[in-house]
Amino acid sequence: MPDPASTTTPLPTPAPASLPALWLRDNCGCAQCRDPRNGQKLFQITDLPEEPAVATETPVTGPDGAVGWEVVWVPDGHRSHYAASWLAPRRPTADRSAADQRTEDAKTLWQAADLTGALPTAAWADYREDPAVRLRILDAVGRLGFALLRGVPVREGQVTEVAETFGFVRETNYGRIFEVRVEQNPNNLAFTGERITPHTDNPYRDPVPTLQLLHCLANSTEGGDSGLVDGFAAAALLREQDPAAYQVLTRTPVPFRFVDHGGPGEDGAPRAGAEITTQHPLIGTDPGGRIREIRFNNRSIGTLRLPAADTEAFYAAYRGFARLLLRPELRLDFRLTPGDCLIFDNTRLLHARTAFESSGGRHLQGCYADLDGLFSTAAVLRREALDTLAVLFAEQGSAEYFGEAVTQAEHMLQAGALAEADGAPGELVAAALLHDLGHFHGEVTGHQLMEGTDNRHSHTGADWLARWFGPAVTEPVRLHVAAKRYLCAVEPAYFALLSPASVHTLSVQGGPMTAAEAEEFAAHPYGADAVRLRRWDEAAKDPQAPTPGFEHFRPLLASLLEACPPA
Ligand code: OGA
Ligand code: ZN
Ligand code: ZN
Repeated sequence: MPDPASTTTPLPTPAPASLPALWLRDNCGCAQCRDPRNGQKLFQITDLPEEPAVATETPVTGPDGAVGWEVVWVPDGHRSHYAASWLAPRRPTADRSAADQRTEDAKTLWQAADLTGALPTAAWADYREDPAVRLRILDAVGRLGFALLRGVPVREGQVTEVAETFGFVRETNYGRIFEVRVEQNPNNLAFTGERITPHTDNPYRDPVPTLQLLHCLANSTEGGDSGLVDGFAAAALLREQDPAAYQVLTRTPVPFRFVDHGGPGEDGAPRAGAEITTQHPLIGTDPGGRIREIRFNNRSIGTLRLPAADTEAFYAAYRGFARLLLRPELRLDFRLTPGDCLIFDNTRLLHARTAFESSGGRHLQGCYADLDGLFSTAAVLRREALDTLAVLFAEQGSAEYFGEAVTQAEHMLQAGALAEADGAPGELVAAALLHDLGHFHGEVTGHQLMEGTDNRHSHTGADWLARWFGPAVTEPVRLHVAAKRYLCAVEPAYFALLSPASVHTLSVQGGPMTAAEAEEFAAHPYGADAVRLRRWDEAAKDPQAPTPGFEHFRPLLASLLEACPPA
């Protein structure tokens, strides 16, 4: 059992006076400082006192149960309120990587073998209907650089509808859609049957399209297989194996160029000419030196003009990087079939195809879009998932909990708070917070459990959560009933801790475990976590205990939705 003393609320951290004052004041969320309708800041940095300081700081609990601080400022007497759950994840840190979703630090780098048999894929129907599937796919594009939708209707123009599920189509000189098929007068080698080696698209464009979609309408020719290479993984390998070459490629601006003299298009309508050019290094890095953007395309690289020695150094490094990119173990090979739609990060992944018989039978439609829209859509899906949970808590907030002295929501909030006070990892805090969610879902309710039908709430709850969270959250939830049966078997004193309702449900759930069952349970990878959760579960039925609101846990849950999309 946790020490009862640990259930008294500690002061929320961090304390305001320990934080940089101007930063804290700049982040005041009051209605004078930010428009409540949109959250946008109403003042200029120059409007703030030169040297604001915290005059007083008072711990407070908001109407939503969130703990925090009220601060009064000198010299102007301004009042601010900061929720601890807002401050904690934003306090100053030496780790500068956290915020930028585009750099290597936010990615899972891969080689082909890492993904064989584990392609990030979903059926179009599921993607359309289930927001959890949509989030998993969008997160895969963010984290792995691509995802593959299957069963997308084989219909001309459909590719833009796919893009519109998460963002906005980027129209270019190739049109809103581009046709990847053999053309009579191709303005790009992509529109022939030639082999295309790993490349990023349109490096001559500024800004470059950050996402590309390729939708397969037909692929019945010999050849025309697809390949993907993780350009960040290849660049990281180059950095390790030849740091000097890596430096050269991050520092040398390379001109890229696309020229189209215009002429008749495929449909007979005139095609406008184009002269598009920009300069960027092949490996782009952020101010901290992290890999952030690859531009690599042998077809559109222009003529460098550098001092002779630098030119030689560049060519040696360029060749070294190109060799790496052609390594078979880096390249994930697969074949697109009609109805497949590949979505990939064009600033990170290189795509390729083998040559194909040009007499017809292969037709892809492509379009471009951008990562900012995709990230935004994923963030909204996360927010909506948490809103759904918040509503469940609010609705169950008044629901009586089978004769316990606390409501179901209070019980779960207390379990989460106990886990947090015990220093449990975030996943386990979330598991404690959400452990009885199965009582709110499914056909068999908690009331039927009390009447003698096992509602299997640990399983239904875990299954529901698995749409959103990984196993470190879901499995302790799944095992929390088994953990009660386990503890009653291995700790003779445990039974006495159970509330009357819990004693009653224990019999419905199978009674204490046999010795063999207990042994099997103890060996389960999440058995120990489930036992910890169970002890908090027993303790979380105290009408006097401090009970934070759901909002207190929202930042933690949001970070878990981000960090841990189910495979
Ligand atoms: C492209 C391209 C690949 C393919 O159109 O940019 O590289 O599979 N196409 O045809
Ligand atoms: Zn391409
Ligand atoms: Zn419980």
